[in-house]
Amino acid sequence: MNSIDRYAVIGSGIGHSRSPQIHALFAKATRQAMEYGLLDAPPVAFQTVVRKFFREGGRGLNVTVPHKQAALRLADTHTPRAQRAGAVNTLASAANGKLLGDNTDGAGLVRDLTVNLDCTLRGARVLLLGAGGAARGVIAPLLEAGVASLSVCNRHGVRAKKLAQEFADLGPVTAVPADDSTAAGRAHIRDDAGYDVIVNATSASLRGELPQIPAYAVGTQTLAYDLAYGERDTVFMHWARSAGAARAVMGLGMLVEQAAESFLLWRGVRPDTAPVLAALRSPT
Ligand code: ATR
Repeated sequence: MNSIDRYAVIGSGIGHSRSPQIHALFAKATRQAMEYGLLDAPPVAFQTVVRKFFREGGRGLNVTVPHKQAALRLADTHTPRAQRAGAVNTLASAANGKLLGDNTDGAGLVRDLTVNLDCTLRGARVLLLGAGGAARGVIAPLLEAGVASLSVCNRHGVRAKKLAQEFADLGPVTAVPADDSTAAGRAHIRDDAGYDVIVNATSASLRGELPQIPAYAVGTQTLAYDLAYGERDTVFMHWARSAGAARAVMGLGMLVEQAAESFLLWRGVRPDTAPVLAALRSPT
């Protein structure tokens, strides 16, 4: 059996995943003897592939689309943040052959916003677009960061309402309508100032689409953040800039930060993310 500790990312259609490169850079910088691979598995094969990986001595997996809910079900124990997010993006082998499920996505977003982008979340008015799995995963960490208000806005408004209700015990989260026909959504922002931060957690960017966004949402202070990332700026980023946002960024920093948080769980050491982010951004 291989004596080097083995890790991997598991997803479906993830041939272009940047996680192996990120973790290789982390391992080198922190002098950890480990290898990190890529497991492409369709949903029907997820459980079998994961069980085999750990049975053969694998130490940890990052889990990505579309397996995060399946990973929650598969894990034997969960961290509180994974439980609250309703999804697992990190699996680790624990004592007695048990599997621990964690979720580092929300922490990755908050760290990218506050540390890398120097954005003050405490007291900020935040608009969250989307009410699916990605949105669910970032609500608790944003509330814990001390935002003044978190407004959830979704194409199908009823999903936004349900999500807001579910997290209302943690802080000031409410649903706002996606259209401009009512003034209800403006309750949390100063006139014409827009939101301090808009997070696009819809999957619209993946198809080159723009989610419905209330026109009043953007002001000159607004930081527009797309959880999606790719080679080129997303439609949402273009839209935000043309609407007058101060900054529009994509989720590459979140990817690196959530990876660092997983690395910390697995190896007990937090890698420095700045050089890795710089390496990913520099043209190859
Ligand atoms: P994920 O796990 O990536 O969050 P999901 O759970 O399927 O995926 O959720 C996708 C989210 O993106 C939903 O909030 C969805 O809106 P609906 O709930 O109204 O379906 C949103 N979404 C996807 N495409 C969209 C589009 N073109 N415009 C607006 N919202 C979109």
